[in-house]
Amino acid sequence: PAPGWAIEADVVVVGSGVAGLTAALRCEAAGLTTVVVTKARLDDGSTRWAQGGVAAALGEGDTPEQHLDDTLVAGVGLCDEEAVRLLVTEGPDAVRRLIATGAHFDESAEGDLELTREGGHHRRRIAHAGGDATGAEISRALVEAVRARGLRTIENALVLDLLTDAEGRTAGVTLHVMGEGQHDGVGAVHAPAVVLATGGMGQVYSATTNPSVSTGDGVALALRAGAEVSDLEFVQFHPTVLFLGPDAEGQQPLVSEAVRGEGAHLVDGDGVRFMAGQHELAELAPRDIVAKAITRRMQEQDADHMFLDARHFGAGMWEHRFPTILAACRANGIDPVTEPIPIAPAAHHASGGVRTDAHGRTTVPGLYACGECACTGVHGANRLASNSLLEGLVYAERIAADIAAERAAHGLGARVPAPVPHPEQPAYPLLAPETRFAIQRIMTEGAGVLRSAESLSRAADQLQRLHTEAREALTEQGKTAEPGVDTWEATNLLCVARVLVAAARLREETRGCHWREDHAERDDANWRRHIVVRLDPDRS
Ligand code: SIN
Repeated sequence: PAPGWAIEADVVVVGSGVAGLTAALRCEAAGLTTVVVTKARLDDGSTRWAQGGVAAALGEGDTPEQHLDDTLVAGVGLCDEEAVRLLVTEGPDAVRRLIATGAHFDESAEGDLELTREGGHHRRRIAHAGGDATGAEISRALVEAVRARGLRTIENALVLDLLTDAEGRTAGVTLHVMGEGQHDGVGAVHAPAVVLATGGMGQVYSATTNPSVSTGDGVALALRAGAEVSDLEFVQFHPTVLFLGPDAEGQQPLVSEAVRGEGAHLVDGDGVRFMAGQHELAELAPRDIVAKAITRRMQEQDADHMFLDARHFGAGMWEHRFPTILAACRANGIDPVTEPIPIAPAAHHASGGVRTDAHGRTTVPGLYACGECACTGVHGANRLASNSLLEGLVYAERIAADIAAERAAHGLGARVPAPVPHPEQPAYPLLAPETRFAIQRIMTEGAGVLRSAESLSRAADQLQRLHTEAREALTEQGKTAEPGVDTWEATNLLCVARVLVAAARLREETRGCHWREDHAERDDANWRRHIVVRLDPDRS
């Protein structure tokens, strides 16, 4: 839509989780005029919900090299080793800078960082805060820092599309601000650098650990802008999400892997431990292996959930170490001190996203991406637990450094955005809000933990039908859904779901978190490579 008002900046950061706010703070510290735009409130994204913590080689005897090894193993041959090396070598200092910014991590009586273990890590290297409230503490510290530094923020604003100049270089974004205030309606931030940090797309599935705002907005925007997107088929399903019944929908409470890191056991309906003997790390095997083992045992027992047994922690440890999870369980009528916790896998993290280089640059000049919406190459086919907060920190800092260096070398300069279509003639059809639920059902049935050519082709047809109906309504009757956050979210979800399913159909093998029933083995000869997608903007 054509913007009704515009403001100017050097950098606009879209999203306000660990990646977005770190990028914004570092850009501002480098003297760049920075505006943060976020769809809800500053602390409403996924970061706030992160439990386990931040992985980094901070403990005695641990090294970035060992962290690198664990990350590469979890990524099953598809990590970009150089990207991982940057992550693990710059990670410890990035965490220290986060602490200097004001985040308080849990410490021992001696004042050392307390570190826990999670799946796939051979060492204790996960720094945590408030026991199991790490993300909430990081979010608090970053939001406070942003406010203290007086950064300009626009909340309740959904970014719609990228603006480019006549040469196709980034010139800003259009956005729709909801609610009252100086900047209602469709407007624009003009800036030669745009940083996408919009988080994940877990809402593409019915049950997810992601908050309702995780609708793939940054990836959809990047696709519409002609940027490359990679690895979308690799959606990580967290093995232990509190099971609230077969019809539970939307955001579900996470039961952190750190609970297993501290010694909880996975048991089936008969109380039998089933991870021992499946992997040398048993319950702490990489996440895809645990999620698959749980799904297999659920199939064998015709059950819709398994259990996590941590009764042996006792009330004291539960209260001190996992207060958030304890409260979530009790709020749902389960007492982990006296009974095993019902769990099932649910969508958790997108390993793929907008393809970037080591500086967070996408394939569109001036457009950057970091955090969950990016594909920096560090996750490969399966993200190692607690590497995502670290990735957000490290790559956000790299982006800020790159923009500052670019300005020092060439000056950023203002770019004149090319005209955008009038609101009466939208370039793409908007979907009715309720389409979101149809998309979630289609994706859960056809492209969930277990996939096959048949299930994926069914999902692709159903998604295509939704797309065709919306496009025909626009082109033949000139009708599209009323613009608003719900309609744009549904539109973005359909966009990312179609690409995800197309990539999952193409990858005829099982690797990491992509599990094909009809191609049960890994196929290194044909598939040790990435699926990169770029949409033709005229046909998206
Ligand atoms: C967890 O606490 O289990 C989640 C950690 C992560 O997804 O990295």
